[in-house]
Amino acid sequence: MNIVANRYQLGQLIGKGSFGSVYLAGDIVTRKIVAVKIINKKLVNDTKAIMNEILILHKCQHENIIKLENYHEDADFVYIIQELAVGGQLFKHIVKRQHYSEFHAKVIIRQLLSALKYLHTLSPPIVHMDIKPENILLKQIPDDYDQNELFKPLVKLTDFGLSQFYQRGALKYGLGGTPGYIAPEVKTRGILTPSADIYSLGVVTYVLIAGRLPFDGVSIDEIYQKQIKNQWSFCDIFENISSQARDFIESCITLDFERRPTAEQLLNSDWLGIEGISSMNLQISRKALQKYLVEQKLRTGMQFIVFTQMVEASSYQIDDPNKSIIERIETSRRGKRKAQ
Ligand SMILES: Nc1ncnc2c1ncn2[C@@H]1O[C@H](COP(=O)(O)OP(=O)(O)O)[C@@H](O)[C@H]1O
Ligand SMILES: [Mg+2]
Repeated sequence: MNIVANRYQLGQLIGKGSFGSVYLAGDIVTRKIVAVKIINKKLVNDTKAIMNEILILHKCQHENIIKLENYHEDADFVYIIQELAVGGQLFKHIVKRQHYSEFHAKVIIRQLLSALKYLHTLSPPIVHMDIKPENILLKQIPDDYDQNELFKPLVKLTDFGLSQFYQRGALKYGLGGTPGYIAPEVKTRGILTPSADIYSLGVVTYVLIAGRLPFDGVSIDEIYQKQIKNQWSFCDIFENISSQARDFIESCITLDFERRPTAEQLLNSDWLGIEGISSMNLQISRKALQKYLVEQKLRTGMQFIVFTQMVEASSYQIDDPNKSIIERIETSRRGKRKAQ
């Protein structure tokens, strides 16, 4: 299996998540290098969930969201062909940087918020459901010192494998998510709103600044218990961080989901507004992040990421692979509507 859909020449493996293996590939038609996520259908007990990921990606057109190029299916695998994020995982880049500060964390969070505002104001809104470091990629590797590069679209949100269309008032039990990042009301009460992404964004912001999780523990259960009781505090690193950043994090990691700010409100928050954010090098955070990355590998190995199939009773079918991607998705959506 070296050529996918008679068009993409597969190259090296560049990433592995809980469901997909991601390869570099050359597009024989356009000569562009792309990323191909290959999902083994046997590992996912419901291929509709994969179609959901493709449909959602197809709907999204935003500079901070990974772009869907194409997709393909054969008997055993689904292939999601995407724009390549050359810079790879954001955190892996940060630990290699010479210079990393609160200012950088803020630039990254602003771009992520821009993606979240877009998703949450679509009709119907899309809840990403898996905002965490591994799903935050970089379009290119920014220079260590040239700050101009930081203002270009850099951050690319990916992995819509657990994403959901938001339906007001609907309860959805057994949803997937990552311990430590998933909002407690999703886990315990099946309440799914866009504010679940805001909670996870708060956790990501904490980790970006401190290099460690606000909720940590030796078992999944211990982490959930801390989340449910909202047991966390700012570690020592935050003594050198602006009070606006702390307020920002605190407002996101709020137990009451109705009191969390929206992405739009956060884009107008004091932290994002103030000038002169510290560019002090966060050496200790970078070291802590390094440790986090090692631990993250162990976590994945331990099947730490809990996944339960979701997707409402939808029936997406891929039909004629020669049709354009839009035609194919439209056909599957009509199929879905008919089935309802
Ligand atoms: N478009 C892409 N460009 C570069 N690397 C990618 C891309 N998509 C995924 N990756 C890498 O592959 C990993 C797994 O991809 P992801 O979509 O998150 O799969 P999973 O659903 O299995 O978690 C990511 O964490 C990242 O390191
Ligand atoms: Mg992932």
